[in-house]
Amino acid sequence: MHTLVFATNNAHKAREVEQILGPGFEIKTLKDIGCHEEIEETEPTLEENALLKARYVKEKYGYDCFSEDTGLEVDALGGAPGVHTARYAGDAKSPEANIALLLKNLEGKNSRRARFRTIIALAFDGEEILLEGICEGRIALEKQGNGGFGYDPVFIPEGYDQSFAELGDAVKNKISHRAIATEKFKKMLTGG
Ligand code: IMP
Repeated sequence: MHTLVFATNNAHKAREVEQILGPGFEIKTLKDIGCHEEIEETEPTLEENALLKARYVKEKYGYDCFSEDTGLEVDALGGAPGVHTARYAGDAKSPEANIALLLKNLEGKNSRRARFRTIIALAFDGEEILLEGICEGRIALEKQGNGGFGYDPVFIPEGYDQSFAELGDAVKNKISHRAIATEKFKKMLTGG
């Protein structure tokens, strides 16, 4: 069993990554290693924020660690919310409020084209690596479905009519931004 520390306390993300990596890999989250502090994402890019979290755990706790940072980039909003995706509607990081603001800001816009972009950062012994996963799609006119987390109810991936929240984990974990970045990570780990 290969144990990896994932610098997150988001149980949804940890489960998705565990499902994609498959048997043979055990994921430990920050809580599992006794890290209870919030690692602030203070940097201007997804890449720097992902590295900051992985580096923090490596330096303070000594574990080889990976982290990820995800942004939703909406063309008609000039790429927003981007690095501000989690706090789009304020520091409460409320998915409901974030979605409501996104739908309001897209009212009357011709394009609803958007993408999720994930960066996975690895801080392993003496090595730092960045991996990217992108999932193209569009923002729905209203919420569709109750599954998933975050913006899943309003994100419809390219080639589908249903949102991530409706498609469920089995489909999402094949095509999502996180799935693409995690597959690259898995290939690296297994030498595949
Ligand atoms: P962070 O990477 O945890 O900072 O997440 C940024 C924001 O994107 C948060 O509001 C998350 O809820 C949201 N988010 C990250 N990944 C996904 C996803 O796979 N689906 C929907 N929302 C997501």
